[in-house]
Amino acid sequence: MDVWKVGIMINDTIAAGAKTTAMTPIAEPLTLPCGVRVKNRFYKSAMNEALAGRDCAPTEEHVRLYRTWARGGAGVLVTGNVMVDRTQLGEPGNVAVEDERDLNMLRRWAAAGTEHGAHCWMQINHPGRQSPITINPHPLAPSTGGVDGEYGRFFAEPTELTHERIRDIIRRFAATARIAKKAGFTGVEIHAAHGYLINQFLSPLDNRRADEYGGSLENRARFLFDVFDAVREAVGSDFPVAVKLNAQDGVPGGFGEEESIWVMKRLEARGVDLIDVSGGTYAKPVIRTNGGAAEDRRRGVYFTDFARRVKGELTVPVALTGGFRNAADMERALDEGITQMIGIARPLALVPDLPNRIIRDRWDGSVELPRVTTGIKPLDKAFVGILVISWFELQMNRIARGERPDLRIGGLRALMFAMRRHGPASLAPRRRKGRQ
Ligand SMILES: Cc1cc2nc3c(=O)[nH]c(=O)nc-3n(C[C@H](O)[C@H](O)[C@H](O)COP(=O)(O)O)c2cc1C
Repeated sequence: MDVWKVGIMINDTIAAGAKTTAMTPIAEPLTLPCGVRVKNRFYKSAMNEALAGRDCAPTEEHVRLYRTWARGGAGVLVTGNVMVDRTQLGEPGNVAVEDERDLNMLRRWAAAGTEHGAHCWMQINHPGRQSPITINPHPLAPSTGGVDGEYGRFFAEPTELTHERIRDIIRRFAATARIAKKAGFTGVEIHAAHGYLINQFLSPLDNRRADEYGGSLENRARFLFDVFDAVREAVGSDFPVAVKLNAQDGVPGGFGEEESIWVMKRLEARGVDLIDVSGGTYAKPVIRTNGGAAEDRRRGVYFTDFARRVKGELTVPVALTGGFRNAADMERALDEGITQMIGIARPLALVPDLPNRIIRDRWDGSVELPRVTTGIKPLDKAFVGILVISWFELQMNRIARGERPDLRIGGLRALMFAMRRHGPASLAPRRRKGRQ
């Protein structure tokens, strides 16, 4: 099936009962350590929707987008990262939840995301120093020292967190999780990957503290464990709490695989319900280029070598995220036991009912991500990270307005969309999500 055919088929009705669901392991329910059951193995990974309204409030557009995804058949829908502090955003258009002021809209969002027996989990995050200067001149971090490399100038020098501020942020994670549960979200995912604040604490490069939050791995992981324990206490033992963690940062001297496995085991002992495996930092993003399907074919499913290493070491379910484009790869990964859930992001911004197509219709094609380009080489080069992210945000925005994704949209329109919606701030490099 070619790309355009996938595009025009989106939202077409699917003939009911075409095939039995027992035929694929992707359709099998999974019971999490907390006792909660999810209906199948599709784990829609977090994608910042960039749809927040004034003051970082959720909107009617979130409701429509998640209703579409819930209708599409995934077992779990993880929201885009929701910030615990509206003065500390990771990118323009983030939702922030600090208190109950938006409870009604959060309720509507959660209700839409849990239709058709789907789970809807809120991803909770603090960006630390990865908060662009255009929206935050005063970022916070475990230690001073800005973002390295060519993008460094887009981030202000962070202030080192005091103990009091660390305690405040831990309390904020717990508060956001408690409100998520009250609003009807059926789980939460703590974002500890992709170079954000918790990842900064874990990284020996970014964390040069001399107190109990720095130095040894045990100390660097303390912030994550404190956040996890506070969130668990806020939501109770029977509510899913997942953690998105880097397999490794992909930077010499950064948080590495041995360390990641150690952290995973400790999280398992603390009662985590699922570990969403990702990776990378600013220096080496997962969405490396705008290469689309050609890049996908070269890379295959991300982090499989790491997942093979972890297999047998953990009993907690894993969601391997990145690079899943077809049922054959998904089934192989489940059969091999290297993952228990299929973490999938970009394809669901193009084919929101991909889970139903694969489980109910046994569609055996491959979702071909297009190469996103403005057609102007220097522009492509200057905005490569933003280009791809903005293009997918534009597709989510279309679904949120009741339109179909449109694969013909070019990179220039995506950049203009980002500019129109978020102003010049959108042209600072957003975090490069899901890095390897
Ligand atoms: C537009 C966009 C926004 C993203 N936002 C987030 C996010 O908020 N939190 C997160 O953990 N990952 C985020 N990611 C990364 C994805 O969750 C995922 O790790 C990455 O896209 C690789 O998976 P895929 O190959 O299935 O797309 C984002 C990716 C895209 C394309």
